[in-house]
Amino acid sequence: MMIKEHSEQLYREIMGSYPTGVTIITTLDVNNKPVGLTVNSFASVSLDPLMILWCIDKNSGSIETFKITNKFAVNILAGNQKEACWVFASRNETDRFAKVNWELSSNDLPILNDVFGVLECKKVDEIDAGDHMILIGEVINLQKNDTDPMLYFRRKVGSIREESVQ
Ligand SMILES: Cc1cc2nc3c(=O)[nH]c(=O)nc-3n(C[C@H](O)[C@H](O)[C@H](O)COP(=O)(O)O)c2cc1C
Repeated sequence: MMIKEHSEQLYREIMGSYPTGVTIITTLDVNNKPVGLTVNSFASVSLDPLMILWCIDKNSGSIETFKITNKFAVNILAGNQKEACWVFASRNETDRFAKVNWELSSNDLPILNDVFGVLECKKVDEIDAGDHMILIGEVINLQKNDTDPMLYFRRKVGSIREESVQ
C-alpha cells in the first residue's frame, strides 16, 4: 500500500512525539503467574459506566494471556518509576516482577507499589485492529496515591509536575 510505504516513518515520528503517561498492565496467567507489560496506548473511554481501553501488539508474548483473562489492572506509573517502565518493556527480562514491589489485590490482580494510580478492570470487549487488539475494561476498583505521574515523550520518560504545564 502506497500510504504505508510513505507514511510509516512520519507516523512513528508524530506518535512518538505525542506525550502520554505510562502504565504497566497486569494480570495472572492460567498458572496464576503474574504477567505484565509497559503500555502507553491507554485511554479513558466512558464515565458511565467507567470504561478504559488499551491496545496490545498481536506479537506480544502476553497476548494469549490477555485474550484468556477476564480482568486486568492498569498501574499508572509515578514519575520516579523509570526502571519499572523499561523492565516491563524489555523482552530480555525473564522475571519482571522480581524487579518491582507488588502485591495481589482482593480481585487477584497484581498491583505495583507506589504507582500514581490503579484501575482494576473487568474485561468487557476485545476489538481486532490491524496489528494490535483493543481491550476494553470496565473499572471495578480504583485508587490514587499522592505522587506525580510519569510522562513519556520521544522515547524518554520523566515526571510531570503541575508547575511545568501551567
Ligand atoms: C513507553 C512504552 C509504551 C508501550 N506501549 C505499548 C502498548 O501500548 N501496547 C503494546 O502492545 N506494547 C507497548 N509497548 C511495548 C511493550 O511494553 C513491549 O513490547 C513488551 O516487551 C511486551 O511484553 P510481552 O512480550 O511480555 O507481552 C510499549 C513500550 C514502551 C517503552
